[in-house]
Amino acid sequence: MAEREVVFRVHRYRPESDRGPTYQDYRVPIRDDTVVLDALNHIKDTLDPTLTFRWSCRMGICGSCGMNVNGTPVLTCGVFVKDLRGGVVTVDPMANFPVLKDLVVEFDDFMRKLQGVKPFLIRKEDAPLSAGEYRQTPEQVEAYRQQSMCINCMLCYSACPVYSRTDHFLGPAASAIAYRYIKDSRDEGADERLGRISTKTGIWECTFVGECSVVCPKDVDPAAAIQSLKVLASMRHMRRILMPKSASR
Ligand code: SF4
Ligand code: FES
Repeated sequence: MAEREVVFRVHRYRPESDRGPTYQDYRVPIRDDTVVLDALNHIKDTLDPTLTFRWSCRMGICGSCGMNVNGTPVLTCGVFVKDLRGGVVTVDPMANFPVLKDLVVEFDDFMRKLQGVKPFLIRKEDAPLSAGEYRQTPEQVEAYRQQSMCINCMLCYSACPVYSRTDHFLGPAASAIAYRYIKDSRDEGADERLGRISTKTGIWECTFVGECSVVCPKDVDPAAAIQSLKVLASMRHMRRILMPKSASR
C-alpha cells in the first residue's frame, strides 16, 4: 500500500514543568489502513518516546483511547487518517476533563458519578442459589440492551455543552447506565436510583442538545435515555403524590 506523509499537530503538556499547553508537529507516514492511534504509536515508537496517551485494546472495546481529533471526540483506534479532512491532523485531549499529561485526562469525576448511580443489580432480597438463575426473555433483555453497550469512553462528556459549563451535571453516560439498570427486569433499585438522579444537577440539567448521542461510538443514545428517565421520574413523582403509601416503583 502506498505511503504518504501527514502532519500531526499534537497537544503537549507536562504540568510539572510547562507553564501551559503547546502543540508539537510530527510528520507521520500514513497508509490507507492507518488509524489515528497507529499514527500516535508511530510517533511514540520512532520519533518522540515522551508523548503520553492512553490505549489498550485497539478494537473499540476498552474505551481508553478517546481524544479530540480535529475538534471532535472520537476513539482514535477507530478513525482512519485517510478519512480526515484538511492537511494537518490536530490531536487534543478530550475536552471538559483536567489534563494529567499530553493527551491523558483525569476521569475521577466520571467514576464518582458512575458509582453514584449504583451500576449493578439491586435486589431487595436475593433468592437462594438453589432457586437457579434470574431468567429473562429476549424482550426483557432488549429493554436495556442498547444502554448496556456503553464502554465508559467518556466521549459523550467531552461533547456535552452542559457538562462543559457545569461539572456538577451527572452527565450522559452515568444517566444512560442508570437507565440500563432501571430497565433490567432483575433489578429492584429503580425507585432509589430515580430519587438520586431526579435533581437539578441530575437528569433535569440536560437541555437535550443531543451531541452526546452524535459522538457515541456504541450507539448508546444517552440523550434519549435521559429523556426516558425524565418521564420515569415524573411518573414516580406523581405516584408519590397520589399514592404516598404505596409509592415504590
Ligand atoms: S454513552 Fe457512548 S460515548 Fe458515553 S461513555 Fe458510553 S459508549 Fe462512550
Ligand atoms: S484502544 Fe480500546 S477502544 Fe480504542
